[in-house]
Amino acid sequence: MSTPPFLDIEGITVRFGGLTAVDNLSFQVQRGTIHALIGPNGAGKSTTFNCISRYYQPTMGCIRIEGEDVTHHVPTRMARLGVARTFQNLELFSELSVYENVMLGCHSHSAHTLGGLLRPPSGETRDLVDSLIERVGLTHDRHTRAIELDFGHQKLLELARALALKPRLLLLDEPAAGLRNSDIENLDQLLTELVQRDGITVLLVEHVMQLVMSISNRITVMSFGQKIAEGTPKEISEDPLVIEAYLGKGAAHV
Ligand SMILES: Nc1ncnc2c1ncn2[C@@H]1O[C@H](COP(=O)(O)OP(=O)(O)O)[C@@H](O)[C@H]1O
Ligand SMILES: [Mg+2]
Repeated sequence: MSTPPFLDIEGITVRFGGLTAVDNLSFQVQRGTIHALIGPNGAGKSTTFNCISRYYQPTMGCIRIEGEDVTHHVPTRMARLGVARTFQNLELFSELSVYENVMLGCHSHSAHTLGGLLRPPSGETRDLVDSLIERVGLTHDRHTRAIELDFGHQKLLELARALALKPRLLLLDEPAAGLRNSDIENLDQLLTELVQRDGITVLLVEHVMQLVMSISNRITVMSFGQKIAEGTPKEISEDPLVIEAYLGKGAAHV
């Protein structure tokens, strides 16, 4: 028997009133790869993420992680399965420091009780937090409140917090938005390292095509809730349908 894909999305549909945000979408993400989900604004990318992390319930279809049907799991159970995410519009504790935000990410897996949450962190946890802050390049802002960072650096902070969960699958919603070119190069390197060294599987929503094309193993393209193409970066960048629906228009070329 062949091993199942790490993530298997089979025919999911999401409706908001009369609007079909995701329309019978299927794709598979293989273990240890970077898989990008791209397409114009409103295509249904974030809604798909919200289904996988279980914030939204698809009206139809099935989501599996390593063959296990997770379509009805609660979000905390997904975290325990090793699924972590960042948000397009940030979900940080704005008044807390960089350090405290990442520390709270660690607590999601170590503390299942209030007592555990209130206990001072172990040296091991503090080291983990420091190393994650360093990996995303925020060491100098360790004590800065999240609200004082610019948008790009807040996104890096969210990435560090997601990594604190020690995820096996990382869902990143526009991690390069607001980043300067030098920061994008660092992100490119970090994501490659997360996959190659730490064995994490990444599903990436991103408009910065320079990043998508350089790091993705495979790309799924959505438009109006549907999958319109799938392939390698080379195949996608040459696909007339994709150029017409997205690359020729909305994609950010850096
Ligand atoms: N909670 C919601 N309620 C109603 N409509 C929504 C909601 N979330 C997303 N939508 C709509 O669903 C469509 C897909 O949105 P989204 O998944 O955010 O697209 P993308 O991330 O690809 O830009 C859009 O038309 C959007 O307005
Ligand atoms: Mg979105």
